[in-house]
Amino acid sequence: MNHFQRKKGVLHAERISLEALAEAHGTPLYVYSTATLTRHWKVLHRSLAGIDHVVCYAVKANSNLAVLSLFARLGSGFDIVSGGELYRVLKAGGDPGKVVFSGVGKRDDEIAFALESGVRVLNVESAPELARVSIVARRMGVRAPIALRVNPDVDPKTHPYISTGLRENKFGVSIAEARRLYALAATDPALEIRGIACHIGSQITDLRPFLDAIARVRALAKDLATQGIRLGHLDVGGGLGITYRDEEPPHPDAYGAAIKKALTGWDGEVFLEPGRVLVGNAGVLVTRVLYVKKSGRKTFVVVDAAMNDLVRPSYYGAYHGIELAGAPRKDARELVCDVVGPICESSDFLAQKRRLPEPRPGDLLVVRSAGAYGFAMSSNYNARPRAAEVLVDGDRALVARKRETYADLVRGEQPLPEPGAVHR
Ligand code: LLP
Repeated sequence: MNHFQRKKGVLHAERISLEALAEAHGTPLYVYSTATLTRHWKVLHRSLAGIDHVVCYAVKANSNLAVLSLFARLGSGFDIVSGGELYRVLKAGGDPGKVVFSGVGKRDDEIAFALESGVRVLNVESAPELARVSIVARRMGVRAPIALRVNPDVDPKTHPYISTGLRENKFGVSIAEARRLYALAATDPALEIRGIACHIGSQITDLRPFLDAIARVRALAKDLATQGIRLGHLDVGGGLGITYRDEEPPHPDAYGAAIKKALTGWDGEVFLEPGRVLVGNAGVLVTRVLYVKKSGRKTFVVVDAAMNDLVRPSYYGAYHGIELAGAPRKDARELVCDVVGPICESSDFLAQKRRLPEPRPGDLLVVRSAGAYGFAMSSNYNARPRAAEVLVDGDRALVARKRETYADLVRGEQPLPEPGAVHR
């Protein structure tokens, strides 16, 4: 369920029409819905009622401060993968005690920042990283709270670029190596073993792989307990898929119920790291049609959003629903077209061979399901200022991020000094 619905034929974000938002804030424009974000978070949280759990929102999916602070107010924890994401969470008023720090390549300064900030746990992904965390903690005179991210070697049956829990992926350590590293960590006074983590991939539409992963991780936890290594929490990662087109992912209620069942008898805490399921369908990208270009038998609808704004179609071949923001014209005929941006790459498209009512220049198109990995993966390629982001709440719209200006594009850069001038 989301709060982007048509009223009298016109698409609205909650109580404001997307046309009015585009008029006020320009295009391309990311629009998020407070009611949808809140609803998604609460549904997932409630699906785990009865077990001691923390929903740690995966910041990478959408790291806008307004979105983070909304989740922080709901009581959310956060899954971060960089010092920058930790900075954002703290700026948004997030509780560092509910932050889990994942990622295969944490630098010393990031480890130190996390320890100083008092994050709940560092999810360690390799033997050399475990050694680094220990060194940094010792240097700071603290004990580092750690979990090992185990790679349970299950196939999540998703796009290879977003599958992470197979042996050939770079993430986590094997179950055998985890045994060895837990034993090592248990003897290291600079490390405090807190729990165990796994994450097998993203946009997963079947419960089976999640349950297989949990079963394998639990078996390991049980083994460790017999060696006197007690784990206080089990982090099941994120990865629950959403409907972009016709996928039928499990409802969060079913997901929560299945997790609870798989964790029957587990007496520690449970952490979740959901990203896409919370924010994906809580956001859209609004873009204006510039030209309708006929080229041989093909029709290109050229819009003002491009792969720098939303890279998922070009990068993963991802499908995003596209529709007109306004009421469809009665005389409009259907068209099969490629919706493309202005960037100088043939891979710059938002949709290919898409059936749409023929748009006219000036019309607004709405790209659906753009709340996750949309703005977060945007860039300035082709020197395009990044889009603005607004967060709608009922009939109010907060500018969550201003549109970038040309001056923003060159912030921190400088041309060569005048010939003969002293270098600074
Ligand atoms: N936890 C960890 C350790 C992760 O690596 C990820 C996502 C998540 C949680 C959240 O997964 P989610 O619930 O959002 O599926 N850019 C890609 C998705 C990459 C996901 C990377 N890791 C896309 O646009 O589809």
